[in-house]
Amino acid sequence: MTETAMRVAFVTGASRGIGRAISTRLAMPVEKGGGGRHVVLVSRSAGPLEDLRSSIEAEGGSASVCACDVGDRAALAAAVEGVVKERGRLDILVNNAGITRDNLMLRMSDAEWDEVIGVNLTSAFVAIRASARAMMKQRFGRIVNIASTSGIVGNAGQANYAAAKAGLVGLTKTIARELGSKGVTANVVAPGFIETDMTSNLPPSVKEQVSSMTATSRLGKPEDIAAAVAYASSDDAGFLTGQVICVDGGMTMC
Ligand code: NAI
Repeated sequence: MTETAMRVAFVTGASRGIGRAISTRLAMPVEKGGGGRHVVLVSRSAGPLEDLRSSIEAEGGSASVCACDVGDRAALAAAVEGVVKERGRLDILVNNAGITRDNLMLRMSDAEWDEVIGVNLTSAFVAIRASARAMMKQRFGRIVNIASTSGIVGNAGQANYAAAKAGLVGLTKTIARELGSKGVTANVVAPGFIETDMTSNLPPSVKEQVSSMTATSRLGKPEDIAAAVAYASSDDAGFLTGQVICVDGGMTMC
């Protein structure tokens, strides 16, 4: 594939944690173990994304920056459409941006519910809808939605988050059925407990407990998730669709 035809990936929540690892893995040159993609780095503010772009380019990779709040439907759709217009293609969409607003269900406010559903679930629908025509026209697309084992087995205090993540599973399977014959695949990667800013405030006792619940006796790293996304978004993964890949050290085995 030539430079101009380099596959283009759009990764939300790219500024840190899992999204940063996914972006780095996809953008690194092939000879350095990466995917050799051009990665559009998406997050709310440009500053941290510029730092990531510089480090990707320093390694010989290709990336661009897109500041966008994925909770703003119109802005997100415009960002996706802008990439298609500017780069002439969009091959890989990774819906990774996510937030938590944990509370026990009886105490959960409408605002906590709405915000988590909007950022974690509705944004994926909006980005997929905005990308689908370009992918169908290319007869190639890879959609990867980052869910959570909370959406598979539930988690006390996370009614909003688990509902959003479970919603991603149904959305993904439906998209897989609607777009499969056009060369577009859709899969979920469902992380278990991964050490990022999202989980950094949990007490050591909770981390030890979670670690002991895995078959691997350790917590996950962002790179563990990036490796699964690299495969699900690769050209080789054309027969993998509608799947939920739990990357959780064997915690749930479901
Ligand atoms: P993080 O909190 O470290 O990073 C989240 C990223 O999303 C940041 O780049 C943030 O700026 C971006 N983001 C949040 N709201 C946004 C918005 N409205 N618009 C644009 N960007 C926004 O989180 P982490 O841990 O890297 O999680 C990434 C994904 O993985 C999330 O969807 C999360 O639910 C999921 N996940 C994480 C697990 C963990 O243990 N860390 C476990 C299971 C799933």
